[in-house]
Amino acid sequence: MTSKFNEIYNASIKNPEDFWKNVSEDIFWFKKPTKILNKSNPPFYKWFEDGITNTCYNALDHHIEQGKGEKIALIYDSPITGSKAQFTFNQLKSKVSKFAGALDNLGVKKGDRVVIYMPMIPEAVVAMLACGRIGAIHSVVFGGFASNELASRIDDSKAKILITASCGFEPGRTVEYRPLVDGALKLAKHKIEKAIFFQRKDHEIKLNAPQEISWNEALSNAKDKDCVEMGSNDFAYILYTSGTTGVPKGIVRDIGGHIVALKWTMKNIYNIDENDVWWSASDIGWIVGHSYIVYAPLFKGCTTVLFEGKPVGTPDAGVFWRIISDYKIKSLFTAPTAFRAIKKEDPEGKFFSKYDLSSFKSLFLAGERADPDTLKWAENLLKVPVIDHWWQTETSWSISGNCTGIEMQKTKYGSACKPVPGYDVKVIKPDNTLAKPNEMGDIVVKLPLPPGTFPTLWNADERYKQNYMTNYEGYYQTYDAGHIDDDGYVWIMSRTDDIINVAGHRLSTGAIEEVLSEHQSVAECAVLGIADKLKGQLPIGLIVLKAGVDKDNETISKECVQMVRDKIGPVAAFKVAIVIKRLPKTRSGKILRGTIRKIADSVEYKMPPTIDDPAILDEIKEDLIKNNILKSA
Ligand code: COA
Ligand code: AMP
Repeated sequence: MTSKFNEIYNASIKNPEDFWKNVSEDIFWFKKPTKILNKSNPPFYKWFEDGITNTCYNALDHHIEQGKGEKIALIYDSPITGSKAQFTFNQLKSKVSKFAGALDNLGVKKGDRVVIYMPMIPEAVVAMLACGRIGAIHSVVFGGFASNELASRIDDSKAKILITASCGFEPGRTVEYRPLVDGALKLAKHKIEKAIFFQRKDHEIKLNAPQEISWNEALSNAKDKDCVEMGSNDFAYILYTSGTTGVPKGIVRDIGGHIVALKWTMKNIYNIDENDVWWSASDIGWIVGHSYIVYAPLFKGCTTVLFEGKPVGTPDAGVFWRIISDYKIKSLFTAPTAFRAIKKEDPEGKFFSKYDLSSFKSLFLAGERADPDTLKWAENLLKVPVIDHWWQTETSWSISGNCTGIEMQKTKYGSACKPVPGYDVKVIKPDNTLAKPNEMGDIVVKLPLPPGTFPTLWNADERYKQNYMTNYEGYYQTYDAGHIDDDGYVWIMSRTDDIINVAGHRLSTGAIEEVLSEHQSVAECAVLGIADKLKGQLPIGLIVLKAGVDKDNETISKECVQMVRDKIGPVAAFKVAIVIKRLPKTRSGKILRGTIRKIADSVEYKMPPTIDDPAILDEIKEDLIKNNILKSA
C-alpha cells in the first residue's frame, strides 16, 4: 500500500543524495554545497563537503534575520532553585556573542576543544552556542560523572579551556564542582590553559588566579563576536559515550549534516512548527539534551525549555504537568524512567488533574525500551499519543520511530515503530545472512548513514572502523539486537555488548568492572545490569576475594561501592557489591554473565553446556537471595 510515509521513506533510501539535497535547502549556508555525498572512502562518508555554514548562525542569527528576534527562544525553569527566566532570540544571541568574545579573548580558536562541565543552567547553553559561533569544538561532560571521567575526556580531547560552575543542585544535596574539577585537573595528563567558573547565586567560591577566572570576569572586557564560516565537515562537538571498555568513545558530529538532519526532524518526526513550544526533559550532558534541548529546536526556530529538576521530588510528581501547562508545551520528550518515577509516586494521576494540559499533543520516549505498562499508563492519563523511538549517541537522532509530522503510524506496544527516512535498517542472523521478518539478530544500518550521524570517532578513525563498520561489511553495527516484524516495525530487545541503561543513562559494565578490579582485595569480578522497576536496569557487582584477605566482606563491599562512586560518579547508581566464593565460567575461562543475569532476573535459563562447575550457579542463587536481589522460591 502506498502511503505518504512510505513514499518519503522509500525516496530517502533509493536516492539519499537527492533526498538530503532537497532537505538541505531549508538551512542557512554561507555557501551552498554542490557536492552532496562523497562516497570515495568508505566507511568514511562526507555529507555536503563543500558547503560553508555555522551552527550558531542557524540556531540564532538566521531567525533574527527573518524578523523573529523578539520571539522566546529559551525558557529556563528550575524548581530546584526556584528560579525562572526567558530569553528571546535577540537576548540569547547577545549573551552568546559576548561569551564568544570572552572565549576569543582567552585565545580559543577555530578547532580548539572546550570542555563544558555544568549544571542545567542557561549559561551552559550559552557556552555551547558560543563555541559554535567561533568554531570551537565543545565537549559537554554530564555533571553526575566524577573526576576520573572528566579527566579522561580532558585528556582525550586535549581541551584548551574548561567551563564549569561553582555548584549544581541535586535533591537534598549541593554538588560542589570545585573538588571534582580539582581532582580531574590533577589526574589529567593534558593541562588546560584556563578554567572559567560560573558563580551561582549565593554559592560563590574562591577562585585561584591566574588559571581560574569567573564567568563575569571573562565577560568584562569581551566584545561581541560574529559567526565564523565553517566547513560542513568541520566538527561541532565531541560527546563521549560508554564504550565496550573503560575508555570512552568520542562521538564527533560534523556541522552541515547535523544542522540539516536535526532541523528536518523537528517537523517530520515530532510535528513541531516554528511557533510551538517544545520540551525535552533530559540533561545537556547526554545526546538527547544536545540534540533536543539545544540544537534541533533552535535550528527550527521554536521555543525550547531547559528544566533543572527531577520528575518527582522537585517539589512533587506534578512538576511535569505544571511546566507543560505554564508554557503551553506541545510535546515532551523524555526517558521512560521519568514516567515510571511519576507513576510510582502518583499512580492515579492526582497531580495531573490540577493542571490545564490542553496545549499538549504528544509524548515521545527514548533512551531505553518503553515498557508497555508505562506507555499504556501514560496514554490513559494524558489522552495523547505516546511514542517510543529508538536512537543512540552515535546517530544523534532517531533511527526508528513514528514520523508524526509525515503520517502517524499505529502503535505496537513494545516496538520502536518503523525505520525513519534516511535509515536502511536490517537484521543479520548469527550465520551472517539477512533475517526474514520476525527473525532475531543483530540490528544494522546499511551504509552510508544519513547526515547528522557520526562520521568518525575523535582521533580514532581505526577504532571507528573496527568497532562499528567491520563485523558486517557495508553496514553500521548498532550493538542492539531484535527483529523487524511483517509490518516493518522494529523491536529492540537487548544490547549485544556490555552496555546497560540505568535511568536512561548509558553505562558500561566493563568500566565498572575495571574500577572494582583495582580494589586490593578483589581477585575477580563481574558486573551485571539487572532489571529494575524504576530505572530499567541497575548494575550489581559480584566480587571474588583474593586468598588470605582478612577484612570483613561488608567493609569490602562498601569500599567497592564508594570506589565506583568516586571513579565513575553517582550516575552509575552502583549500590550493591556482593562477595561470592567463585564466578561461573566456561571451561575456557569466560565468565557466564548472561546466565547470572538471567538468574538474578528470575528468567528461565539453560545450563550452559560449557560450564566448568554447574554447582556454582546454585551458590550464586543463594548469595543473591541473601542480598535481597532475588526472592527465595
Ligand atoms: N550532577 C550530579 N549528580 C547527579 C546528576 C548531576 N547532573 N544527575 C544525577 N546525579 C546523581 C543523583 O543525585 C544520584 O545520586 P545519589 O546516589 O547521591 O542519590 C545519582 O546520580 C543517580 O541519579 P539518577 O539516575 O538521576 O537517579 P535518581 O534516583 O536521583 O532519580 C529519576 C531517578 C528516574 C527520577 C531520574 O533518573 C530521572 O529524572 N530520569 C529522567 C531521565 C533522563 O533524564 N534521562 C536522560 C537521557 S534521556
Ligand atoms: P544512548 O547512546 O545513551 O542514547 O543509548 C543508546 C542505547 O539505548 C541504544 O543502543 C539502545 O540500547 C537503548 N535505547 C535507546 N532508545 C531505545 C528504545 N526506544 N528502545 C530500546 N532501546 C533503546
